[in-house]
Amino acid sequence: MTPLKVVRSEEIAKGIHLLELRDPAEGALPEFSAGAHLTVRTPSGLLRKYSLCNDPAENDRYVIAVKRDPAGRGGSVDLVDNAKVGQLIDMAPPENAFPLNPGAKNFIFIAGGIGITPIMAMIRHLCASGLAKFRLVYLTRDAASTAFIDELNSNNWKSMVTIHHDQGDPARAFDLWPLLEKPGSAHIYCCGPRPLMDAVRDMSGHWPRSQIHFESFADAEQTRMADNKPFRLRLARSNAVVDVRSDQSIIQAMRSCGFDAPTSCESGTCGTCRTALLEGEADHRDLVLDEEEHASQIMLCVSRARSAELVIDL
Ligand code: FES
Repeated sequence: MTPLKVVRSEEIAKGIHLLELRDPAEGALPEFSAGAHLTVRTPSGLLRKYSLCNDPAENDRYVIAVKRDPAGRGGSVDLVDNAKVGQLIDMAPPENAFPLNPGAKNFIFIAGGIGITPIMAMIRHLCASGLAKFRLVYLTRDAASTAFIDELNSNNWKSMVTIHHDQGDPARAFDLWPLLEKPGSAHIYCCGPRPLMDAVRDMSGHWPRSQIHFESFADAEQTRMADNKPFRLRLARSNAVVDVRSDQSIIQAMRSCGFDAPTSCESGTCGTCRTALLEGEADHRDLVLDEEEHASQIMLCVSRARSAELVIDL
């Protein structure tokens, strides 16, 4: 990991803090593409992923926005409270599990809350390159908790951006159906809380799958941890048995026993860890598989078991 210097730390909306990081020697940073994230080591040593929200054309800084979540696992609170301006923070180079489709000429972005962060980098890139048109629907509770609100309401972007506040009332939720009713050539990118992504997935089932893209947060899965139960995983090719604890994903349990499989996003959105399911009933928690694939496929990074044992083709 490389140490970078915190040069700015500022609350830009209620509970949302922007951190700007630069090379301590003021050198150029490894380049990134829109949708990329950084893996950051927080001051107390926790590893967390945060999407970059600045223009990918900038090579002298990384900007992330962190939602300080006192009910989370501690990473965001540690980073916001303890990473002070001037301090060095370790981070791994940017990776991208949520890239823009390079051939698309039209995009629909749907962001919920802090899910706006990768989409900010995307619309900055599209505006700077002029390569494609976009529309952004940005859903938040209220104006105070809306990051980048002034920028998005500026004349540059106003005509392409719809910001909707529901005041925390499901009855005031934005109706996405008019946006998704008629499939077109646009690529849809959605990032936000799990219920929003589930709603977009359900409403876009009649679109070509290749045009729908999701980015999840670790914290979204965290909310489901309470439901987790341990189970047994059998790797059919070696007949090896791996016990998956309630606080582990399948892939984490496999790695702890010396097995591995390809992964990328590790949040159930990219499809890399798709594996054939031979026996058992899975508890599918990804945004990749279709209903008809549920009996025969599983995503190792997020999904679990309803039965006592799963057998997979590895
Ligand atoms: S690694 Fe991306 S879906 Fe599992």
